[in-house]
Amino acid sequence: MPALVLLGAQWGDEGKGKATDLLGGSVDYVVRYQGGNNAGHTVVVGDQKYALHLLPSGILSPGCTPVIGNGVVVDPSVLLSELSGLNERGVDTSKLLISGNAHIITSYNVTVDKVTERFLGKRKIGTTGRGIGPAYADKINRVGIRVQDLYDESILQQKVEAALDVKNQILTKLYNRRAIAVEQVVGELLGYAEQLKPYVADTVLILNQALEDDKVVLFEGGQGTLLDIDHGTYPFVTSSNPTAGGACTGAGVGPTKISRVIGILKAYTTRVGAGPFPTELFDEDGEALRRIGGERGVTTGRDRRCGWFDAVIARYATRVNGLTDFFLTKLDVLTGWEEIPVCVAYEIDGKRVEELPYSQSDFHHAKPVYEMLPGWSEDISKAKTFADLPKNAQDYVKALEEMSGAPISAIGVGPGREETIEINSFL
Ligand code: GDP
Ligand code: IMO
Ligand code: MG
Repeated sequence: MPALVLLGAQWGDEGKGKATDLLGGSVDYVVRYQGGNNAGHTVVVGDQKYALHLLPSGILSPGCTPVIGNGVVVDPSVLLSELSGLNERGVDTSKLLISGNAHIITSYNVTVDKVTERFLGKRKIGTTGRGIGPAYADKINRVGIRVQDLYDESILQQKVEAALDVKNQILTKLYNRRAIAVEQVVGELLGYAEQLKPYVADTVLILNQALEDDKVVLFEGGQGTLLDIDHGTYPFVTSSNPTAGGACTGAGVGPTKISRVIGILKAYTTRVGAGPFPTELFDEDGEALRRIGGERGVTTGRDRRCGWFDAVIARYATRVNGLTDFFLTKLDVLTGWEEIPVCVAYEIDGKRVEELPYSQSDFHHAKPVYEMLPGWSEDISKAKTFADLPKNAQDYVKALEEMSGAPISAIGVGPGREETIEINSFL
């Protein structure tokens, strides 16, 4: 049986957690392949609400093995507290597997994230302050600490020394902060080693064997396509590859194994942090989307910036990810508008542009060209089939599908597992 990738088609927070959880009952493995605890994935099961940051959403499905792949950056203290929080609520987390090659977010990565943002001032990215960028920077600079390093004290000592060598110069001389002691960091990291040990595994081998044995593997992206370090709105992005290719490198599975790539697409658009956002609203419509959609960050508690649906971005997501399907979420939030504007193209320096411009300067100037679609006022949260939706809601979905370049195979009409219309099966 094949591997599926499920990822964000916009700027994150599209509803990936809910979509993953929905499929979790029918898949054998759910794998996070990039990012870290910058993610905030909300899953609502019955009257229980879970906010997951690092653990794959499949952890809530008893038959499913959750995996943290090599491409993820792991903050051990966050991981352990997330695990104990779930255990206290009766969730069995014993099946979790963590790649020994995953990199660790150290306390100095978190410090560097915060001071760098402060130093950037007006030019700041608006990161989640969780040390994500600095941990990936250490990985690329080849001074990162990996999960497996926790089990060789002498190697760990050498690696922390190497990582702090330059960092302490920067912290003390540039940022006017105190130097960080190697011993303190090593002691802290060793303190996590025993607790994490039962989970550490050769996840690449396990996942590839599972695929050979016809098991179903679901890769769950964090963040979204426009936050991708290569394909997003750089530099206002995260420091990893949430796009489909990231699943291969971040889990060690070849592209030939992936048969479906599902883009999670919100029926409007949101973004957290700084960076361009052509359809952003600064009026009462934006306020209403935020209020009705509950658009407040799960990780940082920041209000999300809100705007209308942007078909240029959806088309772009289809292209860079090779999407086979969309899962359209939060359609219910749009109930009550008489007319709903949808951005079908941009106007850049007086010219109509149908595709996302590759130039950042052009994108910053892009003005949305809107088409007005008729709205609906009926409550759609109980709809179970496409035919249950009012005609105008059906037409809205069909129009989005036409503009976005891949079939809409499921529609979210509420936060709960069951508040979903399935059109084409994902499995
Ligand atoms: P993620 O980061 O992509 O997993 O998304 P978040 O959890 O950060 O944000 C999505 C929010 O929308 C969460 O509060 C979900 O419970 C909620 N949600 C997901 N799908 C739907 C839907 O179809 N309708 C409504 N009303 N809420 C939804
Ligand atoms: P989920 O998985 C929305 C944003 C931050 C910031 C930028 C860089 O819940 O969709 P980082 O801390 O990653 O270096 O911050 O990326 N960001 C997210 N925005 N949803 C997320 O995750 C995000 N993870 C990071 O707000 O603009
Ligand atoms: Mg989120």
